[in-house]
Amino acid sequence: MNLANCDSQWRSVIERLLPEVHPVDRDALLIWLQLYPLKVARLAAADANRAEFERYYQLRGRYLLAENADTSHQFFYSHRYWAAVKAALGSLPEGLDLLGLIRHAAGAEKMALPIAAVGLMTLRQAGPAFLASGYQPKLDGRTPEQFLSARGSDQPRGLWGKLSGAKAALRITMAEDQPDRWFPILTGQHITTGAELDKRPYHESDERCYKDMGPIPVDCRAGSCGTCWVGILGGRENTEPVIEFERKRMNYFGYWENEFHDAGAERPLIRLACQTIVRGSASIVIPPWNGVLGESRQKRREEV
Ligand code: FES
Repeated sequence: MNLANCDSQWRSVIERLLPEVHPVDRDALLIWLQLYPLKVARLAAADANRAEFERYYQLRGRYLLAENADTSHQFFYSHRYWAAVKAALGSLPEGLDLLGLIRHAAGAEKMALPIAAVGLMTLRQAGPAFLASGYQPKLDGRTPEQFLSARGSDQPRGLWGKLSGAKAALRITMAEDQPDRWFPILTGQHITTGAELDKRPYHESDERCYKDMGPIPVDCRAGSCGTCWVGILGGRENTEPVIEFERKRMNYFGYWENEFHDAGAERPLIRLACQTIVRGSASIVIPPWNGVLGESRQKRREEV
């Protein structure tokens, strides 16, 4: 089947799939679909001048799934099933619809459904080259319930937590599978304010980060640049509701222009970290790219 023919079916298929997805990966799937929208892949494919395309949309970082295929979903519990899903994607049967293909890629393992959906979307956007990589996900022995109870928690985790002497405190977790990937935060702070005090060398692994400026890439801290967008994986109830200014800016950046964004949500899954105030701990996903792709910007480019 030509997956491009299924582009209009994704929303209804995900709606049907979500009740079967374990809660540990439900928001993870909705966040991932918004971090890697078809819109970006389509715009990139339609534009022959890549350098000019990136300049116009102010794109920075790894915005194409082809560069990220094996790692874009490391924040899923079901990331552990990626190798099996890839093997199934290599020999998809004829005659199945999109939902059937997702079920086929998950095989008998129901927990693999969300990562199977990710696999089909990655195949659609990146083509089959990634299927040949030898990438092996790291295994984490915790159960989905243990993942969920640690998500958005104030408690330090694992051996690192014990050895470092870290105490229970409000924290923003950046990678749930790595016990040292968090920074403390105070109630009433914006997420980027807490992040700035984390002086580890994030600029060495993400070229968008500045030295001593923390793990979340920022270019303004005032809602102007769109660099600091994040997914709120856990602890959304600990975030202050979005205000009109953030809504306007998100519309300009285009991060909410997709079928998986809940326009009525007080606390959406995708936020600007510099505009998000927390009252408790939260778990976030930092996308590896940023840009300005709102409809108004797209229209202007088409008119040129
Ligand atoms: S840092 Fe510029 S919008 Fe948040």
